[in-house]
Parts: sequence; C-alpha cells; structure tokens
Amino acid sequence: EPAQIGIYGLGTMGSALALNLAEQGIRVAITNRDSDWIAPFLDRAGALAGQMVPADTLAEFVAALASPRIVLFMIPSGAPMDAMLAEIVPLLAPGDIVIDAGNADFNDTRRRTRELAPTGLHFTGMGVSGGEAGARHGPSIMVGGSKSAWTALEPILTRIAARYEGTPCVARVGPDGAGHFVKTVHNGIEYADMQMIAEIYGLLRDGAGWEAPRIGALFADWDRGPLHGFLTEVTAKTLVARDPATGRPLVDAICDRAGQKGTGRWTVIEALKLGQAAGVIGAAVDARVWSAQAGLRQCAEERLSPGAGSFDPLPAGALEQALIAGRLVTLVQGFEELAAASGEFSWELDLAGIARIWRAGCIIRSDLLHPLIGALGQAGPLPLAHPLPALLAANVAPLRRVVAGAVGAGLPVPALAAALGWYDSIRRARGSANLIQAQRDFFGAHGFARIDSPGSHHGDWGER
Ligand code: 6PG
Repeated sequence: EPAQIGIYGLGTMGSALALNLAEQGIRVAITNRDSDWIAPFLDRAGALAGQMVPADTLAEFVAALASPRIVLFMIPSGAPMDAMLAEIVPLLAPGDIVIDAGNADFNDTRRRTRELAPTGLHFTGMGVSGGEAGARHGPSIMVGGSKSAWTALEPILTRIAARYEGTPCVARVGPDGAGHFVKTVHNGIEYADMQMIAEIYGLLRDGAGWEAPRIGALFADWDRGPLHGFLTEVTAKTLVARDPATGRPLVDAICDRAGQKGTGRWTVIEALKLGQAAGVIGAAVDARVWSAQAGLRQCAEERLSPGAGSFDPLPAGALEQALIAGRLVTLVQGFEELAAASGEFSWELDLAGIARIWRAGCIIRSDLLHPLIGALGQAGPLPLAHPLPALLAANVAPLRRVVAGAVGAGLPVPALAAALGWYDSIRRARGSANLIQAQRDFFGAHGFARIDSPGSHHGDWGER
C-alpha cells in the first residue's frame, strides 16, 4: 500500500512528526541521509512501525509514495536543503509537493519556490512549532505555498496539528515564503518572551537574593493568571528542577551563554528591511550576543564599575504586570512586522488567523493571545485597537517601576526597557525628531516639513 506522505530526516523533529502521522493512521514513508538510523527508529516506533514504509534509498522512498507525491524534509536549513532538492527533483513529477519543514530563511524559500516553478512541483515552506513534544502530539503549523498544494496537505496536517478547543492549529498563511516568515516572527517573539522572563529572574536572583525554586514558585503562580502560557510553565518547571549530582537547583549549574540558530536575528533583520522596529526582539538578540561574550563579561565584572546595587524587591504583582506589558508590546511589534511583510510581498496574511493557530501547540502559546486576537479583528492601528490601550495602560506603570528600579541598581533589563521605550515613544504626539530633521538639513540639506506650511523647507543655519 503506498504511503500518503514521506518524511526525509529522522532527527528529533522528523521522527516525532513521523510517529504523529502514523498514530493518526496516515501511512508514512521514512528515510534518512544515514540509513543506519532507520532500523533503530522503527524499533522505537513499536506498533506504529506498522504504518511506516522504510526506504534505504531516495529512489525507493519516492517509489513508496502515492501520487501526487508529498515529500517532507526535516533537515538543517540552508545548503543541505538545496543539496537535497538537487537530488530529489529529477525523481519527482509535476504536481508533486516538496515541503521544507525546517526553520528556513524565508528568502531561501521564496528563491526555491521561484527556481522550482518551471518543474511543476509545488515547493512548500512550512513552519512547525512546539519542539519535540509538539511535533509528536500536535504542533502549530504555518504553511506557505500554493493553494493546490494546500488542498492536498490540509486533510493530513489537520489530523496531526495541535487543537485549540477542537480547532486545528494549522493554516495556509500565504504563498511562497509566508509560512517560514510567520514562523520566523513566531521565534522572534519567543526570543523576546524568554529574554524578559530571564530579566525578571535576574532581578530577583541578583537584586533581591532569591533562590531559583522560590522564583520558580512565583512563575508557577503566574501561570495560573494572565501570564498563563507555555513559556511561563516551562520557566516554573526549569527553576524548581534539581541537579541530581548536587541536589542544588540545576539552573544554577548551567553556563549563562545562550545559543541561537538564527530565527530571532532574522526577525530583526527583516523588520529593519521592512522599515519596522522590532525593538524588544532586537534587545533579546543583543542580550544573547552579550551572553555569549563570557570572557569579556568575566573581566569586565572587575573592571567596569560600579558593581550592581540591590534591587528593591517590588511586590511580585508589579513584576507580573511588567511582564504582561512587555509581552503585549512584543506581540504588537511582531504583528506589525507581519502586517508590513504582508503588504510588501502581497501575501494578504490573515493576522488574527495567525494568532489563532498560535493558541495551541507552539512555544509562544499563551492567554495573552486572546486580547491580541480581539485587537487584530478591528480596523486602525494595532496598538490602539480595543482592548490593547486599556491593557497596556493597566500594566505599564509597573513596567516603568521595574525598569526604573533595575536601571537604578545597575541590573540589565534591555528587553523590558525596549518595550517601555516603544510605549513612551509612540504615545507622544510631538516627539523630538524635529531636532533630527534640523540636524539632517544642517549637514545634508535633506529638507524638512514644517508644522505650519506644506512642502519641503530648508533652514538658514548660518555658518556651517
Ligand atoms: C519552536 C521553536 C524551535 C526553534 C528554537 C529557536 O517553535 O518549536 O521556535 O523551532 O528551533 O526554539 O531556536 P534557537 O533558540 O536555537 O535559535
């Protein structure tokens, strides 16, 4: 019996997806670059192996698939994907669908879509979120590709996706690179959320002397309130975990250098290219860069004064509200970037629909998406759409107190401060950029608009 879909790449995510598909009764062909991985994987699959068609070679793999063939690659993004396309394309026929389900750069996805168009293949860039557990039991899936590819994929993906109150968290968000772009922005938001959480952890640890489990208990408490969401839960659980070797909190034994594979950085790069500001995400990427400069920080702790002061432990409720405000600002920035990309690439993204497929399965799933979905359903600028202004107003005063306290104590809160910087900038009808315009005109004769007469003007700046 032919397989309905083939998975190439039996790493953590590919294996988990194959098991998920099999469990949903979908016959799945499997293969891997190193075919030695296949037998142990089938052993692990147990009864689910009955739904799998193992293939040692690419030719066998393709031959195992029903037509039109659906081939899903879960392999490292970048050059390996181009290499695999070069190998598999000659084996496929017009109408077949090739999915890149990794965290690809959407620019690559657009290029590959263009390059493969003459072959009649449907190249599909698919964002899959939720880590291993998500892939195994229900990820959030963001599909970018042709409508006809979606017609073939929808019945399969709907069965394996996460469900939010019964609704599958999967959608075709747009053509070509749209799915990977949406996944990239998802990850940017993930970076910012994680960074703001780490900043609050740092304030409590370094400013107020709290032990990890006590901070974990606070996050567990927050997970029962408006901050309810996957990353809040993960934070609570990681902070209370013990190192079996020492009995001490495991988090205390972990080096403070954050890794990054690129999606957070891409979110910032693409925001800048689109003329958008993703400041909170940018701060989160900066913070990961600084975290990696461990040698410098080691020396600088002794040489760059003054050392950190103590942080007056604000009521935990203020920290909770500061995090709510910061996360709302991040969501607004992320969705403004999506809106800008939608316009630039004519994707017609359904922004509220994207927020809806993030309600389950993905890493940034959280209750704060609910007010955002309400706001995205309204006309006008997102930060002013009900209920965001009231929610921001209710939580921004604590954010200000937290940032002020941290700054006063010399404790770093770059992402929380970036969120506040955005808020304080956009709520001023008259900002200070009139001076920037004056400076630009002074040294470059760039011209400026006047408040009292139309057109472009120059100043008489005197001696230059
Ligand atoms: C997800 C995650 C995942 C991603 C990392 C981000 O949605 O399941 O976003 O796809 O690979 O969490 O990666 P880095 O932190 O390693 O850049």
